[in-house]
Amino acid sequence: MRRLRKENLRELVQESKINLKDLITPVFVDERIESKVEIPSMPGYFRFPLSKVADEIGRAMELGLKAFILFGLPSKKDEIGSSAFEKDGVIQKSVKSIKKEYPDAVVITDVCLCEYTSHGHCGVVKDGKILNDETLPIIARVAVSHAEAGADIVAPSGMMDGMISAIRGALDSEGFEDTAIMSYSAKYASNFYGPFRDAAESGYSFGDRRSYQMDFHNRREAIREVELDIKEGADIVMVKPALAYLDVIRDVKERFYVPIAAYNVSGEYSMVKAVEKMGWMDGKALAYEILTSIKRAGTDLIITYHSYEIAKLISNV
Ligand code: PBG
Repeated sequence: MRRLRKENLRELVQESKINLKDLITPVFVDERIESKVEIPSMPGYFRFPLSKVADEIGRAMELGLKAFILFGLPSKKDEIGSSAFEKDGVIQKSVKSIKKEYPDAVVITDVCLCEYTSHGHCGVVKDGKILNDETLPIIARVAVSHAEAGADIVAPSGMMDGMISAIRGALDSEGFEDTAIMSYSAKYASNFYGPFRDAAESGYSFGDRRSYQMDFHNRREAIREVELDIKEGADIVMVKPALAYLDVIRDVKERFYVPIAAYNVSGEYSMVKAVEKMGWMDGKALAYEILTSIKRAGTDLIITYHSYEIAKLISNV
């Protein structure tokens, strides 16, 4: 077995490799700031003002990154998250400014209400309950507004039942048949999202997300979620988080023939940064190994906050 492990031969036989073209970089755009702000629980990661977002995309594209998923921090929130579907909302403006400067960039938008609602939940709330069907027309409207602004792919992350068919129907009837849907299909109610809620100010004011996101004790249920989303019209399905969910990625890979994305989430990033800061492990090498493992499990695309470092590592800059 050792013959092919020689330094000059090993690359030739590597089975799974990270390709920069498969990485999707999250971008936080904050309507209320004038210059970039570092996210305290995500060292080395920033929120950008609207005026700088296109420049940031340009910087990332120079490193070889091509695809981006946008998250917005609006200046106002309300009960139903109406600033999520405004024509001149933070995401709609960001998409336009990016597409104007970099028409080749792949622009994906996170479609959810939690950053825009006063209570921080991903749906409409009544008597302490997160309502499913009442939420669908609102997220469909958000998706259409993103498509109108020029998004290539919309990515609903709210885990409402029927969200994909509601969005596909709305996009098609508004003339956006070409806008693709990447569904956060198997999204678990996870402790690994902690730093993101800090980054996107999307924490909730009561309860938790366990009535809509999946229970992490379950594996087969993910298959049902993915199956439903594909039937409803999802073009790409996602498993989230990634590192503690490699079994789920493998299951989805073996059963379905659509592209799979895995979300290497904020908490996974912050853990690496924390041990790096402590001097306990080599953060870049860890990130590289983690992303390679996610690839090996069977994902096609990886959404990751490590993309800048990996791009530099791979291209030796
Ligand atoms: C919004 C959303 C979340 C993430 C992506 N979209 C947070 C949540 O569901 O609470 C998490 C991403 C990350 O942790 O990196 N629904």
